[in-house]
Amino acid sequence: MAEKETVTLTDNSTGRTYEFPLLSGTIGPKVIDIRSLYAETGHFTYDPGFTSTGSCASQITYIDGDEGVLLHRGYPIDALAEHSDYLEVCYLLLNGELPNAKQKKDFENIISHHNMVHEQLATFYRGFRRDAHPMAVMCGVVGALSAFYHDSLDINDPKHRLIASHRLISKIPTLAAWAYKYSMGQPFIYPKNELSYAENFLHMMFATPCEDYKVNPVLARAMDRILILHADHEQNASTSTVRLSGSSGANPFACIAAGIASLWGPAHGGANEAVLNMLAQIGSKDRIPEFIARAKDKNDPFRLMGFGHRVYKNYDPRAQVMRKTCHEVLDELGVRDEPLLELAMELERIALEDPYFVEKKLYPNVDFYSGIIFRAMGIPVSMFTVLFAVARTVGWVAQWNEMIADPHQKIGRPRQLFTGETRRSFVPLHQRG
Ligand code: SDX
Repeated sequence: MAEKETVTLTDNSTGRTYEFPLLSGTIGPKVIDIRSLYAETGHFTYDPGFTSTGSCASQITYIDGDEGVLLHRGYPIDALAEHSDYLEVCYLLLNGELPNAKQKKDFENIISHHNMVHEQLATFYRGFRRDAHPMAVMCGVVGALSAFYHDSLDINDPKHRLIASHRLISKIPTLAAWAYKYSMGQPFIYPKNELSYAENFLHMMFATPCEDYKVNPVLARAMDRILILHADHEQNASTSTVRLSGSSGANPFACIAAGIASLWGPAHGGANEAVLNMLAQIGSKDRIPEFIARAKDKNDPFRLMGFGHRVYKNYDPRAQVMRKTCHEVLDELGVRDEPLLELAMELERIALEDPYFVEKKLYPNVDFYSGIIFRAMGIPVSMFTVLFAVARTVGWVAQWNEMIADPHQKIGRPRQLFTGETRRSFVPLHQRG
């Protein structure tokens, strides 16, 4: 039996010393197992934002922020983006291995036969104003799925977990496309099973009943690649939200709706929408220095959207693939001189040379380019984070399944450092100042 590694903690307030196990994974930082810390020391840890805290053991995605590495079940993201397709990556994330030809065909067949939603759900949209933010609609309609699938809500039944997982991955593009159609006042377009996942999504987004709509294969491939790049990303804010929701035993549809709500934030998945809004605000290259200065100013809440990352202190490997895809799409659409891309490229050049961004290792992240690609495809800014949610649903579902199956997992219930008032006597109203 290998010698157990430990970490020693000395509590100078009592002079007592404690030992805690130091656990190793297959790669990446070791973790100090502090599950007995409170029982042994009477102290909590304090780590707002969980920058130094591992919430779980996972085998799905590994990120090395310093090296700019992203692996899904061991496969580098650039290899998957180049040689795989989104449904194959979905299978990999869910099952741990790339599918063989039969497994791939069976999985594609399953997913393509769950892409319709209950017709009653279509009427749910009509309760929203047409100008409702599509992410607000998605929070509502995805949560509402739990009202339709009473046959797959028992999270302790592996069969229920499997069918719910397939339903979520299959239906999310339909619900997303319908959120767009509803905002445009256009009729909903039903999925077509002969189309690929990405083709089907683009078809439901842009087809109309009036004429046949042929999906541009270059755009379909670009969309498929973008879905791969956003599929999963370890224990980010929205994935942690899904895990925490699921730890209480909430049904998977409610958990994914919670993940969508968390992703909406501009510091997280809402950044792609925020990038476009920021580029529009900058307006021209000559104003870039003004905004770079604001981004550095501690008294100015302005952040350079699309730059920086909690984990990556190197170039986000997804951003590199996204940059290549961005140029492919703009060449295909003949919008190479798109002013916004020129502005974005100049902003990237300046930021990568600026000492502030260099020393703080604030590189462009995945959201920096996705917004420009989506805009070139004719997707409105308000739909950008919805597309992120479509792609990330498989990651949330895979992480949720892993959490449910983990024997060490229990309901998440963090503690706190209390800094408020200590006990005091009630003051009747007539005695208050
Ligand atoms: C995603 O977690 C994930 O994996 C998320 C994601 C996924 O796939 O799930 O990768 C998707 O959310 C990508 C990130 C998209 N967000 C944005 O592009 C918004 C702009 N970025 C920042 O809000 C920020 O970089 C965060 C929120 C992404 C990270 O914030 P942190 O963890 O606070 O960043 P940090 O600790 O590394 O910051 C170091 C310093 C800080 O200054 P000091 O306190 O040291 O003086 O850099 C500053 C920050 O204030 N800083 C920025 C900046 N990002 C960080 N300054 C200017 N502009 C920025 N964009």
